[in-house]
Amino acid sequence: MSASGNDPVADVAGLVAEAEARMADVGSADQLRELETELLGKRSVLADARRALGALAPDERREAGRRLQDARERIEGLIAGRRSILDAAERQVRLEADHLDLTEVPPSPRRGRLHLVQRTRDELEDVFVGMGFTVAEGPEVETDWYNFEALNIPPVHPARGMFDTFYLDLGDPGSILLRTHTSPVQIRVMQGQAPPIYSVMPGRCYRRDTPDARHIPIFHQVEGLVIDRDISFADLAGTIEAFTTAYFGPDIHSRLRPAFFPFTEPSAEFEITCTICRGAGCRTCSQTGWIELGGCGMVDPAVLDVVGIDDEQWSGFAFGFGIDRCTQMRHEIADMRVLLENDVQFLRQV
Ligand code: PHE
Repeated sequence: MSASGNDPVADVAGLVAEAEARMADVGSADQLRELETELLGKRSVLADARRALGALAPDERREAGRRLQDARERIEGLIAGRRSILDAAERQVRLEADHLDLTEVPPSPRRGRLHLVQRTRDELEDVFVGMGFTVAEGPEVETDWYNFEALNIPPVHPARGMFDTFYLDLGDPGSILLRTHTSPVQIRVMQGQAPPIYSVMPGRCYRRDTPDARHIPIFHQVEGLVIDRDISFADLAGTIEAFTTAYFGPDIHSRLRPAFFPFTEPSAEFEITCTICRGAGCRTCSQTGWIELGGCGMVDPAVLDVVGIDDEQWSGFAFGFGIDRCTQMRHEIADMRVLLENDVQFLRQV
């Protein structure tokens, strides 16, 4: 057989070139395996050529065999090269699918905060504790006796009119109620300890008020009670002025105006400089420059008598004012009802 014509080894170089061209189109491992079978398998042109070697003369056979082997190795090299490219691409796809972003920061739970009224209460307590007072508490559900009678307000007394409240369906009709002020805690403190007494009593109170910009039916007061020897009205005025400047700042002052409460004698209303206009006069303070905060006075001897304290030896003063009103004045809140509405937009900003 000659080296031309149907010489099986004649176009081996063309085979390698063709393999190289087709390799570029192989896009998957499966396709590559198929092509490998076609190019190198038992029924490939290369295998046919190998089988045809036997018909050649020995020295021709050696030369043709070497060329066939060379072609096979080059095609194997092309396949291996393509395989490693495909493997790398596949690995990349898998890696991207498995991708775990370890730098992700999950949102942390939002921190809550105390309600503005609670914060005011805490700050007021701090001011009074700094002045040497202790803090006491009493129940919100009270008896008629603690809320009224022990405080010198008998059943038909007209002062009950300003303390209209909610009654509970318990015991004798009208005997158990939601306290209208923190003053009943004065009685409980005096029953529980002997003078001298320097105590403040914060807590929630209730009145049948229709809510408006300056009244809410559930509100908070802080009561103050001092019982000691030689306590005068000047001590009361000085204590209130000291508290006012400590809590509201040095340019806010207090003044006392005559008033009436059945459980203090003499009694006064206490007012502070309007925090909106700083005393100049505005709509909030009805052009007076002053805002009423609470009531106060010297403890009535009739009240000391109820709890068995000798009014010849001891005297004292008491005061009570609205915590919500303090919140409103300090933070310049136009309408007090926002304190009850639980609107997170309001609660969050303060
Ligand atoms: N308890 C009174 C009120 O709620 C305030 C007050 C307290 C007055 C103590 C005098 C003494 O209106």
